[in-house]
Amino acid sequence: MMTIRLLAAGAILAGLAPAAPTFSKDAAPILFKHCAGCHRPNDIAPFSVLEYKAARPWAKAIKASVASGKMPPWFADPNHGQFSNDARLSRREIETLTAWADAGAPEGNAADLPAKPVFTEGWQLGKPDIEIDIGENHQVTPGEDAYEHFVVPTNFKEGRWIRAAEIKPGNRQVVHHVHVLLVQEDLSKMAAASTSNMPDLQQFLLKEGKLSRIRKEAPVVNDACAPGTPALPFLQGAQEGGLAAFLPGRPPDVWPEGTAKWVPAGAKLEFVVHYARISGKPQYDRTSVGFHLAPGPPKQVLRRMDLRNFFMQIPAGEPRHEVRRCYDFEADKLLLSFTPHMHYRGRDVTYVVVRPDGTRQTLLAVPRYDFNWQLVYRLREPVLVEKGSRLIVTAHYDNSPNNPANPNSKEVVRWGDKSEEEMMTSWIEYLDAPVRRSPASSGGSQ
Ligand code: HEC
Repeated sequence: MMTIRLLAAGAILAGLAPAAPTFSKDAAPILFKHCAGCHRPNDIAPFSVLEYKAARPWAKAIKASVASGKMPPWFADPNHGQFSNDARLSRREIETLTAWADAGAPEGNAADLPAKPVFTEGWQLGKPDIEIDIGENHQVTPGEDAYEHFVVPTNFKEGRWIRAAEIKPGNRQVVHHVHVLLVQEDLSKMAAASTSNMPDLQQFLLKEGKLSRIRKEAPVVNDACAPGTPALPFLQGAQEGGLAAFLPGRPPDVWPEGTAKWVPAGAKLEFVVHYARISGKPQYDRTSVGFHLAPGPPKQVLRRMDLRNFFMQIPAGEPRHEVRRCYDFEADKLLLSFTPHMHYRGRDVTYVVVRPDGTRQTLLAVPRYDFNWQLVYRLREPVLVEKGSRLIVTAHYDNSPNNPANPNSKEVVRWGDKSEEEMMTSWIEYLDAPVRRSPASSGGSQ
C-alpha cells in the first residue's frame, strides 16, 4: 500500500515538475546538431560545445543567444520563403536550452551523451581534381579585420565544367569567409563588348593598390528601378557571378545533379578573404579552392547573376537610406538561392518579384542584415520566374551613429571594396528554365 502511494506521488511530482534538463541528455543533442559545426576546437567560434567543461561557463550566454535568435546565425524573415539551409532552432529546442541554463546547467549522466559529431579535417568532398591556392603564405597581423584580394591564374589550357567547388581555409582560426570569383576585369570587358555604347565601369573607378572604389564625382543613382534611370554600367541587366563561397559552418557547394559551372580557358581566380580580427601572435594562411570536374557538358548550366548598384550614395547620418536595383527577366529562369552582400551600414534587404500579370511575391526578406554573416539563402524549391517579370531588390543602410557597426556616421558613403565603404550586391544562383512544351515531347535533349 505504502509503496504504491509513494510511486503514485512520484509520478505526479514527475508530471508536474519534470527533471531539470541536463547537458548530457538534453542540451548536448541540440548543441551537437546546431552549434558544433562552428563551436568546436580550432574553429571560428569562441568556445566548444563538444565537452561539458568547455560549454558550461557559456550556459547563460547560450540561453541569451538562442532566445534572441542571435545564434545560430540566420536572418531571413520566416514569413517569406522556405529555405533548405534554414538554421533556426525549434521553439522546443530553445526552451530546452533555456531550462538547462536556468537549472544551473547541470551535467547529468555521461552515459546519456549522444555520439559526438564527426568532422572531417581537410577536404570535405574528398580530394579535388584540381587544387588552386592563394599563391602565398599570407601573414595575418593582429589588430583589425582584414579583407584581402588574391588574384591567381588557373593555367587552364581549355575551359572546364565544374560540378562542385570546395574552399578550404588554410587556417580556420583566422579565415572568416572566402569568395572565389572569376576575375572581374575580364567579365566587365566581356560585358562592355556585349553592350556597345555603355561607358566602361573602369572610368568611374579609383584604384588604390588592389582595392577600388567609385569616384566621388561619379553620377548618383539610388533608385535604379525608376523609369528614366541613366545608362550606366550594370544598373540594368546582370553581371555574371562568381564560383564558390566559404562560410563558417556551411557545407561546401555541390551543385544539383546534372548541372555544372564553366571556367573558361586562361581564367584567373580572385580570392576575396575576410580575415577575422586576432590578438597575440601573427597567424599564417594559405586558403585554396578545389574543383571537382563534371564528366562532360551538363544538362543545365548552373549560373549566377550578380546584381549591383555601383552608383549608390548614402548621405551622412542617414538612418534608413534606400537603394534599389531591378532585373527584368529576358527569359524564364529557375531561381535557386540568394546571397545578399552589403558592408557595415547594411540594414535590411528584400527581394520581390513582380510577374507579368502584376502579382507580387516576396522571395526573401532579411530584416536585420549582419555584415559578419554572409549567409546564402537556398530556396527549398526552385522558384520559376517567367520572362517579362521584374525582380526588385530594395536595401536600406544605416549611416547613423545609432548603428554600432558604423565606422563613421559623418561620412557620405559610396561604393568601395573596403568594409568602411559600401556595396549593394546580390548573388543569385539560377538555371535556365527548360523550354515549356507539351508533356508528350518532354525528355528530349535541350
Ligand atoms: C555558423 C557558425 C556558428 C554556428 C552554427 C553557431 N555559432 Fe555561436 N558563434 C559563432 C561565432 C563566429 C561567434 C563569435 C562571433 C559572434 O559573437 O558573432 C559565436 C558566438 C556565440 C556566443 C557568444 C555570444 C556573445 O554574445 O558573446 C554564444 C553564446 C554562441 N555563439 C552560442 C551558439 C549556440 C548555442 C549555437 C547553436 C544553437 C551557435 N552558437 C551556433 C559561430 C556560430
